[in-house]
Amino acid sequence: MADRLRLESFNVGHLPAILAIEKRTNAAPWSERAFRNELGNPNGIFLVALLGNRLVGYGGVWLVIDEAHVTTVSVSPEHRRQGIAARLVIELLAMARARGALCSTLEVRAGNEAAIALYERFGFKTVARRKAYYPDNKEDALVMWLHEMDALEKAG
Ligand SMILES: CC(C)(COP(=O)(O)OP(=O)(O)OC[C@H]1O[C@@H](n2cnc3c(N)ncnc32)[C@H](O)[C@@H]1OP(=O)(O)O)[C@@H](O)C(=O)NCCC(=O)NCCS
Repeated sequence: MADRLRLESFNVGHLPAILAIEKRTNAAPWSERAFRNELGNPNGIFLVALLGNRLVGYGGVWLVIDEAHVTTVSVSPEHRRQGIAARLVIELLAMARARGALCSTLEVRAGNEAAIALYERFGFKTVARRKAYYPDNKEDALVMWLHEMDALEKAG
């Protein structure tokens, strides 16, 4: 399976499949407009993961000076634990590094064990907690940082 997975830059044709996954996987789904904004964002990188013609995941970063802010990573429930999110994170951060990022940060729901484990595998560390950050359920956010992006290759 892993051999057939390929990553591509997000284009408008991917939108319906992205929105379908987003509704199923995110407690506070991004709107179509939010995804469309990524299409024209000169300071963003947004990738999709495809198995054959089937879109199975996506993820993005924003480049803020020398920081890569991970904005989202999602994989369709049927395709989890196959290394797809890991591939997306590695590629997003490699592309961000190539564009000058020296470190990376993100926010994640405190109860999202899968995502926290994913990011910890790449060396992200929790440095702060934002109380009741998510409006839908008042869940705390963990703020995670990765300062040694050159260690990424080893984690993949
Ligand atoms: C978090 C998410 C993106 C992980 O996607 P995935 O493709 O299943 O992740 P991978 O298969 O690449 O996992 C890589 C590593 O992350 C960790 N991990 C991933 N899911 C995990 C889980 N459910 N429990 C524990 N560790 C997990 C493991 O270390 C895993 O490596 P392993 O399978 O060799 O043990 C996916 O569960 C998802 O889409 N969740 C909903 C959206 C979301 O919460 N996104 C993150 C917020 S930005």
